[in-house]
Amino acid sequence: MCGIVGYIGGKNASQIIFEGLTLLEYRGYDSAGIAISAEGKIDIRRSAGKLANLSSLLGKKPLLGNTGIGHTRWATHGKPSEENAHPHSDAEETIVLVHNGIIENYADIKRQLIKEGYSFKSETDTEAAVNLIKKHYRGNLFEAVQTAIKEIRGSYAFAILSKDEPDKIVCARKDAPLIIGIGEGENFIASDIPALLSHSKKMIFLEDGDIAEIKIDGVKIENSGSFVEREIKTIHWDAVSAQKNGYKHFMLKEIFEQPRAIEDTIRGRIDIEKNEVYIDECSLSADFIKNISHIYIAACGTAYYSALIAKFLFENFCRIPTDADIASEFRYRNPIFNGNTLSIFISQSGETADTLAALKTAKAANCPSLAVCNAVGSTISRQSDNVFYTHCGPEIGVASTKAFTGQLAALYILSLYFASKRKTLPQEKFSQYLKELWSIPLKMGEFLKKSDGIAKIAKTFSNKRDFLYLGRHINYPIALEGALKLKEISYIHAEGYPAGEMKHGPIALIDENMPIVAIMPNSFIYEKTLSNIEEAKARGAQIIAVVSEGGSLVKEKTDYQIFIPQTDEFFSPILSVLPLQLLAYHISVALGCDVDQPRNLAKSVTVE
Ligand code: AGP
Repeated sequence: MCGIVGYIGGKNASQIIFEGLTLLEYRGYDSAGIAISAEGKIDIRRSAGKLANLSSLLGKKPLLGNTGIGHTRWATHGKPSEENAHPHSDAEETIVLVHNGIIENYADIKRQLIKEGYSFKSETDTEAAVNLIKKHYRGNLFEAVQTAIKEIRGSYAFAILSKDEPDKIVCARKDAPLIIGIGEGENFIASDIPALLSHSKKMIFLEDGDIAEIKIDGVKIENSGSFVEREIKTIHWDAVSAQKNGYKHFMLKEIFEQPRAIEDTIRGRIDIEKNEVYIDECSLSADFIKNISHIYIAACGTAYYSALIAKFLFENFCRIPTDADIASEFRYRNPIFNGNTLSIFISQSGETADTLAALKTAKAANCPSLAVCNAVGSTISRQSDNVFYTHCGPEIGVASTKAFTGQLAALYILSLYFASKRKTLPQEKFSQYLKELWSIPLKMGEFLKKSDGIAKIAKTFSNKRDFLYLGRHINYPIALEGALKLKEISYIHAEGYPAGEMKHGPIALIDENMPIVAIMPNSFIYEKTLSNIEEAKARGAQIIAVVSEGGSLVKEKTDYQIFIPQTDEFFSPILSVLPLQLLAYHISVALGCDVDQPRNLAKSVTVE
């Protein structure tokens, strides 16, 4: 998820673009750049790090002109650095481009263009696009983009300049947002509303397949070979609420971004037609994978709960004995490494000190390491032998939501890839699991669309001081995660427990003041969990049950039911966590807590 801004008009383009980028910094902040087209050439300024670095560069070497594009980056391909920062250009700087999205076939495009003599300076997928447009450029940028787009697979929002056509900006979008702001004798483009609001409230939201040519005095849009008219909408948001896309908190926005975050993480990595899984960015050989005899996974907090779920996946899909450890404990327990051990480290930020220390423990034992991270170029990703990035975009809310389900998506992909190399799953089962994973973003979206009732349940229970979350098997880690969500944003004590363990002590706690959240989607152990719930109900507890659609039995035996779409039980955690995120969120709001920045917490715990 990156931020794009563009301007064409009579004012100082660089200043307008920079201000717009600062309002989009929540979309990415690991590097930034601006390009201005004037007097037959295009000047570019780029810097690694936050926008403040670009600002000081512009102070030393200002950009003058009235047409330009800018970008603030959230890296997906290529580490955060100046050479990977956008805008990117062809070698002659004829064409300059900024991009938000993921070009799935960039490696093929880049290979072919190198053969044809085009040179590359960066590790990005974006540079393949700018050189492909240059290849097709015959003096008309709009036509060159129309031709090049046909060869690009993946998601993109492009803003493009040509030094020979300084009176226009060309844009294109597919599966990544791009908006045109309509001004008086000037026009604007941006990835998101906040960057436009101070200039214009009249906006055109480009649609997938749109290619637009923006000039001072007008906009033309083409889609599938014909020119189209797009509605000009008037937006009345203020800049802050617009950064949250109209949601009250970043956490709520990020909960609803999960279908897209999973889609982006899966994109280009599984093919349900060919029954294939691709992890090109990892250099784990098939031989190494076939010979893995043990996996350690170390992580903290929510990431540790995704590690507990991964244990089920690696043991059931790949038949590899797997230990999931709390990172701060792992480093002190003198773990045993043999030649065929793989160590995995899961971290959204890639900067968690305890997880980094655990990684160092594995490296000291010469154990091959694999990081699952959301932040490209983060310390843990750089210090691991291999890294598998989730593509969730920046997670601003301290409570992790889309990064957690992104980790689960990554772990499904990795475990299915390992299973395909170790041939530990029957082909039919493998194919079924791939299709199930592919269907998850849609099922998440279906659930989220019908989740309004959870706020009402939350209001009923917001005065309680203790909760018990119960789950079994692969949903026990979800009980832990649900309890953590509630604790960290509402400050209510909550405990996740294996449902079968309740009778060995915690049942003494249960009465009408201790609500129970039971995570019990369809599963081979559903009846067993139901009987645990009956024991709790008999002692006066109020039960909130997370169950699969179609589950009837549960209505008589529980007080509140939240239904999630049917799925294979190994995939149920990525859906059963959603109601728990929303339950915690709405209880926190009902209590007036600081949802996005809860007390005592930090987004990345870089101290041990
Ligand atoms: C989760 O909601 C918390 N914010 C916290 O437990 C977090 O998951 C943990 O600190 C690990 O962070 P990381 O994924 O960035 O390593």
